[in-house]
Amino acid sequence: MTELLPATPEQIAYAADILRRGGLVAFPTETVYGLGANAFDEQAVQRIFAAKGRPASDPLIVHLSKAEQLELVACSFPDIVHTLAGKFWPGPLTLVLPKRENISDAITAGLPTVAVRVPAHPIALALIEAAQVPVAAPSANRFGHTSPTTASHVWHDLAGRIDLILDGGPTSLGVESTVLDVVSTPPRILRPGGVTREMLEEVLGPVSLLVPSKNRSDSLPSPGLLEKHYAPHARLLLFTGDNALALMAEEAQAARQAGQKVGALALDEQADFLEQHGLLVYRLGHDVNSAARLIYAGMRWLDRQHVDVILCCDFPESGLGLAVRDRLRRAASKIIHQD
Ligand code: TXA
Ligand code: MG
Repeated sequence: MTELLPATPEQIAYAADILRRGGLVAFPTETVYGLGANAFDEQAVQRIFAAKGRPASDPLIVHLSKAEQLELVACSFPDIVHTLAGKFWPGPLTLVLPKRENISDAITAGLPTVAVRVPAHPIALALIEAAQVPVAAPSANRFGHTSPTTASHVWHDLAGRIDLILDGGPTSLGVESTVLDVVSTPPRILRPGGVTREMLEEVLGPVSLLVPSKNRSDSLPSPGLLEKHYAPHARLLLFTGDNALALMAEEAQAARQAGQKVGALALDEQADFLEQHGLLVYRLGHDVNSAARLIYAGMRWLDRQHVDVILCCDFPESGLGLAVRDRLRRAASKIIHQD
């Protein structure tokens, strides 16, 4: 049975107790909800994979309550680690570092590295602090589905499969942390996220960016990144280029004629036009920051309206746009481009 409780101090203490006893607790972070287990309890970690239906080849992020605990999980620190931790922790930056021996292969999927972050959310920090152990936590969704940004999203995906969901309201950032490999030179972004490339480059100089591929035969530096992921149940079509809005209207008309229900994820400035063309629009607010916060909720909402297809316009690469574009590309069944 899964309990859903408000994240009061008493319930956080209760949740920490569940973690120490090997249970699974979903909790809010500033990015998305995480599904936590005691990182030092291998059986508990295995339970995360079972609850999510996640393949063992996809490694987990270990969450700490302070940077000083890094020595518990990682064994060597390139110089830039202290700079990055000082500047961006607590926050949406995950560092990939050489792991300590006590970190199980279950967490790292057999890799010699471990991914670590200190989340910027008072409930997450209080929970990790009270549990007194590092907390391994992927996003708290069924594998391949969109990440959860509210407790009810977690409930929808994982009720009956985990022990407790701590409800701390909607998350503020809405997209996952940036995963940065600091072992390679220059440092390499494996997954764009809440700490933007521009923010990192201001501190580090040039950083490289792993270009994702859907070709599974490629070598996989960050295994979870290369599959269809973050996806709604409806087919998502992503439109790029100057003509995107007009193409969306055309596509909607064709789909409706074929008897399909058509939804859209759109910025406020695009929404009126699309509604006039008969699309069911979930509004993403007025800029890329609100879009990041709302995009997963929007995919889930449109699924609940039983649309057959979701149309979405692409975002520019700057700032959080890089992360939003990345998630849309992984979620998309098809990218439609025409200048
Ligand atoms: O914002 C977030 O990062 C959220 C919250 C809960 O902290 N967590 C999250 O976890 O998104 P998850 O498991 O959904 O994504 C973790 C990503 C995966 O793409 C995984 O492949 C990558 O981090 N990763 C984990 N360990 C790694 C490692 N040792 N080397 C390379 N990539 C790694
Ligand atoms: Mg995930």
